[in-house]
Amino acid sequence: MSFETFINFSYIVASILFIFGLKMLSSAHTARKGNMVSALGMLIAIVATLLLKGIAFKWIVVGVLIGSAVGAVSSYMVPMTSMPEMVAIFNGFGGLASLLVGWADYHTQFGHVLNHPESFRFDTFTIVATYLTVLIGGVTFSGSVVAYLKLAEKFISGKPVLFKNQHLANGLLLFLLLALGAVYCIHPGSGYAYVALVLIVILSLILGVMSVIPIGGADMPVVISLLNSYSGMAATAAGFVLRNNVLIVAGSLVGASGIILTQIMCKAMNRSLSNVLFSGFGAATNAGKGVAYKGEAKAISAEDCYLILEAARSVAIVPGYGMAVAQAQHAVRELGELLMANGADVQYAIHPVAGRMPGHMNVLLAEANVPYEQLVVPEDVNPNMPAVDVAIVIGANDVVNPAAREDSSSPLYGMPIINVDQAKTCIVLKRSLAAGFAGVDNPLFFKENTRMLFGDAKATVQALVAEFKSK
Ligand code: TAP
Repeated sequence: MSFETFINFSYIVASILFIFGLKMLSSAHTARKGNMVSALGMLIAIVATLLLKGIAFKWIVVGVLIGSAVGAVSSYMVPMTSMPEMVAIFNGFGGLASLLVGWADYHTQFGHVLNHPESFRFDTFTIVATYLTVLIGGVTFSGSVVAYLKLAEKFISGKPVLFKNQHLANGLLLFLLLALGAVYCIHPGSGYAYVALVLIVILSLILGVMSVIPIGGADMPVVISLLNSYSGMAATAAGFVLRNNVLIVAGSLVGASGIILTQIMCKAMNRSLSNVLFSGFGAATNAGKGVAYKGEAKAISAEDCYLILEAARSVAIVPGYGMAVAQAQHAVRELGELLMANGADVQYAIHPVAGRMPGHMNVLLAEANVPYEQLVVPEDVNPNMPAVDVAIVIGANDVVNPAAREDSSSPLYGMPIINVDQAKTCIVLKRSLAAGFAGVDNPLFFKENTRMLFGDAKATVQALVAEFKSK
């Protein structure tokens, strides 16, 4: 077997492991193993690449040391609730890496043409791939930085930033990028091409900012997932620049899975992708803030709550972002077990965008050893909701907001929710009547069958557990 065949064989093995790893991630039972399988694939790909000739090990060691230090420290420090910001900024670095690969490759080729003007010929395929790498990488990088700042509420408001003729400005930017791309690709050896590529870098960075600022509120998870997909596409383009098969495969997998996740999230919010990208959250169908709900919310104590739960035969537990903030998942699992021991049928209803990242609630409940079989999706729990004795909402707000069904002026209107208001009794555990991520009032708190158990979710769930244990 020649050396080249060996490297390509290693890349094929790595690609197969990536694909199997991804497949295994689709079920909670196999997800951990899937992660290991994919990591093994990555190890094989890295070792095979390091065996290639012409590798500057000195710089690789410097990069590995700096990257590992930054990655390890930031992963250790980041709270679970800030994971979306972390994912956003990591996507951005992926885009930046691709941009730099594209730029460095062109820079090297341009150097060759200066030294050997008569003999050097640009490879058109690589030039087009370089253009795409720089363009997509630039948009991904600056778009992800803006997404990070929006989610972290640093320097930029988390709300959509809209201004007059925004679409026109973005269209103009895109046109300029295409025109500059033509200049660059047609005469890549000219000084104009070099200037064009510098302008392409600058304008792609501006386009990234302009594409993400109009998005905000509850639409942000979709954008993060889309940027994740872009980072994969940029890596694929970089793979073509470097003629590296495993980078092409890995980038394509990231690009495709990011797009699929984006579609799933759009469906969960009953929105089209173009609507998310171009309308600004809240301006989607009816520019409005929804009805401001007033009324009397009925507070309840843990003791009285216990009496309701003690008599319940079917219970739906609906966790949300507040459960993550309070780190109440272990106490929630204990409450679920006590309810079952008391003869109740207990289900955990998980909304696809509950929390702050895809699968957020699944991860927390799996960490607390809640059996996966007890987790149900809204489509399965909603038809049976009128037969549910008690729905316990733990730190969820937007994903149970009936305004999404009832108020056509609400920014949430049309988003599928978990219909906890249709249960016989709904108990909401949160600290106040404050709005959730989308900043929209929730009429659920004032419904006849709703009781509010105010306080930190961990403390209130623990109080309910203590009530059960004391009887
Ligand atoms: P939210 O609508 O954000 O509501 C969470 C509620 O938790 C808040 O109203 C807050 O009320 C309460 N809370 C916070 N800390 C608490 C604590 N320590 N104890 C008890 N309650 C606490 O959450 P949700 O229903 O899960 O909806 C998720 C929202 O985030 C959606 O709008 C979604 O689109 C968006 N989003 C989702 C993702 C993904 S992919 N999952 C990513 C980014 C954004 P109090 O302050 O009154 O306690």
